[in-house]
Amino acid sequence: MDEMRTIFECSVPGRQAVMPEPLDVPEAALPEALRRDTPLALPEVSELDVVRHFTRLSRRNFGVDSHFYPLGSCTMKYNPKVAESVAALPGFAGLHPHTASVEAYLDTCQGALAVVYKLERRLAEIAGMAAGCLQPMAGAHGELAGVLLIAAYHKAHGNNERDVILIPDSAHGTNPASAAMAGFKVRTLPSDRRGVVDFDAFTSLMDGQVAGVMLTCPNTHGLFEPQVAEMSALAHEHGALMYYDGANLNAIVGQCRPGVLGFDVMHFNLHKTFGTPHGMGGPGSGAIAVGERLEAFLPGPRVVKQGDNYTLQTSERSIGKMAPFFGSFLVALRAYAYILALGDAGLKRVSEGALLNANYVLARLKEAWKPAYEGFCMHECLFTAGDKTAAHGVQALDIAKALLDRGFHAPTVYFPLTVKEGLMIEPTETESRQTLDAFCDALLEIARLAEEDPDALFQAPTTMPVGRLDQAKAAKTLDCADLA
Ligand SMILES: Cc1ncc(COP(=O)(O)O)c(C=O)c1O
Repeated sequence: MDEMRTIFECSVPGRQAVMPEPLDVPEAALPEALRRDTPLALPEVSELDVVRHFTRLSRRNFGVDSHFYPLGSCTMKYNPKVAESVAALPGFAGLHPHTASVEAYLDTCQGALAVVYKLERRLAEIAGMAAGCLQPMAGAHGELAGVLLIAAYHKAHGNNERDVILIPDSAHGTNPASAAMAGFKVRTLPSDRRGVVDFDAFTSLMDGQVAGVMLTCPNTHGLFEPQVAEMSALAHEHGALMYYDGANLNAIVGQCRPGVLGFDVMHFNLHKTFGTPHGMGGPGSGAIAVGERLEAFLPGPRVVKQGDNYTLQTSERSIGKMAPFFGSFLVALRAYAYILALGDAGLKRVSEGALLNANYVLARLKEAWKPAYEGFCMHECLFTAGDKTAAHGVQALDIAKALLDRGFHAPTVYFPLTVKEGLMIEPTETESRQTLDAFCDALLEIARLAEEDPDALFQAPTTMPVGRLDQAKAAKTLDCADLA
């Protein structure tokens, strides 16, 4: 029961963790107006109580540093510690952007501005585009910036009739949400039986009302869009722009560049491709890159180089600020450290390893679990548990929970929506063959249980601090004692 106690329940009157040194200055009372009427309601605990409590909580977490985390489309790969030590350098970590004046800001932040400038250029190179911008704070925020740029471009060209964005049915939900937030209507592109965009449907939906196309490539079925170049050409012929959702860039980084495939604007999930922490819904970074025709519209201010110094400039046509200062700066700094540490050859090995690992898992599992689509995959493999549901009542959720009991984070389940009882596994390039084998062995055992003893799976998880919860209630009721 101790395990479940909150830090407040550990409180013992009079106990304390801080042992202040004797004063060596005269004691002064706080002004009356600033004093509290009632004591501060803090737990009274010793230093050891605090350390044990939070260490215990941290050990109940599933994280990349403790467990294999094959969450499809999320790229939960190892975050190298070298990037952490760079972000912790006092010159960066202690920097505060709120200075007395712009002059003082430019004077004290030259090193940080150099990082912004150089990383934006490096990202533009990786994208095969003209310029980058670090402001957006997450992938979805980068999408919004991107579609706002598309809107600004068409407005500047008097194309006011263009109010539609084409988005595949396999896209992440943030794509249509971003397009709608920017004021566009969404037309959905169906997938064909191979799991890629139906090119005939694409052709028939493309007309003079289309402002842009948002594509994820490889898509969320883990498949490269074979007609991406033709789609870009057709979109451009019709005056529409191409948006690249870069959430899956780790599958092609170092091999090919979205700009060369015909994309005009893209976002990176720095927290995926470049191995920086995802955090709990953040901190992330959804930096963007654009081709020449969109550069003038980028969010501002932008860092520019004048002689040996860095300064700030905002284009008159800029869509404005997407975030204070330069977004998640310390996340961007970690990504820059990662890119420099790997170099060009290392980035190429990232995508090679991501594909090899995903195809290894696919090959080991495909007899026991039905692949959603035929053939090789890119950086993630997608299965359907639909046949097991029909025959034995075992659902993707049961499989996810059973994996927790075996020491693995669940893959992404029920996404993309195009696949029934989907299980989307993204092993990433940072995992060893031993880990992949242990994971595949667990899934093979679960496949056997699904047929021989499905009840064993319906009970899972049995080794976690809590078992099956009412998930809707769990999201709203944060005290787990009420959920048992
Ligand atoms: C394909 C795809 N696009 C966009 C996003 C949104 O990225 P973020 O979670 O950083 O907002 C995700 C997130 O998983 C994704 O998988």
